[in-house]
Amino acid sequence: MSNTHNFYSVANIKNVPYAIQEAIDFKKIAKPQIGLGKTMVLLFFNSSLRTRLSTEIAARNLGMNVISLDMSQSWKWEMEEGVTMRFDTAEHIKDAAKVISGYADIVGIRAFPSLTDKVADYQDDLLQKFMHYADVPVVNLESAIRHPLQSLTDMMTIKEYQKIEKPKVVLSWAPHPKALPQAVSNSFLEWAVAAGHEVTITHPKGYELDDEFTQGHTVEYDQKKAFAGADFVYTKNWSSVSQYGKILESSDKWRIDKDLMSLTNEANFMHCMPIRRNVVATDAVLDSPNSLLYKQAKNRLHAAEYVLTKLLKNG
Ligand code: CP
Repeated sequence: MSNTHNFYSVANIKNVPYAIQEAIDFKKIAKPQIGLGKTMVLLFFNSSLRTRLSTEIAARNLGMNVISLDMSQSWKWEMEEGVTMRFDTAEHIKDAAKVISGYADIVGIRAFPSLTDKVADYQDDLLQKFMHYADVPVVNLESAIRHPLQSLTDMMTIKEYQKIEKPKVVLSWAPHPKALPQAVSNSFLEWAVAAGHEVTITHPKGYELDDEFTQGHTVEYDQKKAFAGADFVYTKNWSSVSQYGKILESSDKWRIDKDLMSLTNEANFMHCMPIRRNVVATDAVLDSPNSLLYKQAKNRLHAAEYVLTKLLKNG
């Protein structure tokens, strides 16, 4: 990990292939109690099952105390400097960051995008400002544009299940009734390139991801062509970037089913979860022996243990 002492993005990892292998190896050893006497505070501005549980359990496994806060029950933060706070914001982010830094040794934050203002969302204001003001390491538990703990997990899972040195990895868009963030897909792509994978991205026209994240990968608009010979199919819905936050396609045409999977090289199916069954992918795919859903979810715990250990050692 770099000397920034945060875990915000892949840029905080010095040698990504080495870190992925080290995180896999770390699964096998008894966890060092290097968090004894230290506290982790987790701030959730949005819902979570896997991230909250895996991060809490990981911190406890390292000996830490953990407190999770549902931020809908806390004071609304002011993000701008110099504002006369007469209206609905009750606490400035810099005051909150300084106060929390006095209680916690590591802080984790989940804060999703608005999906209404691309410029503001892609500045990742809340995470960036909190990291700027905080005096302790900050872990990104899914920000407006990135989900690095998920991506480290995904890279670990691919490494564990790949049968050849250069597997064909496909990132496929799939339908969803709600407009979802691009964070998981953005992060997956920036981690994949750092891990040495050139990903084939497939999605309907209008769903192109931001250039910042697609560099080093290829786009194939024909989903069937993209699936041909794939070793891993990573599925995710995201809303449009160009027509920011909009749903442009909702038919079942892009849903992952057995017929699509039959075009692959007996590919493993991956998804970060939660997944809407028979909307994103059919039961037959999700419950097939090639589905890595639960192994991937379990790796969230190991990725969190690895990252927290590194932050505790650096601190
Ligand atoms: N994959 C993931 O982040 O799951 P949660 O939203 O349940 O935390």
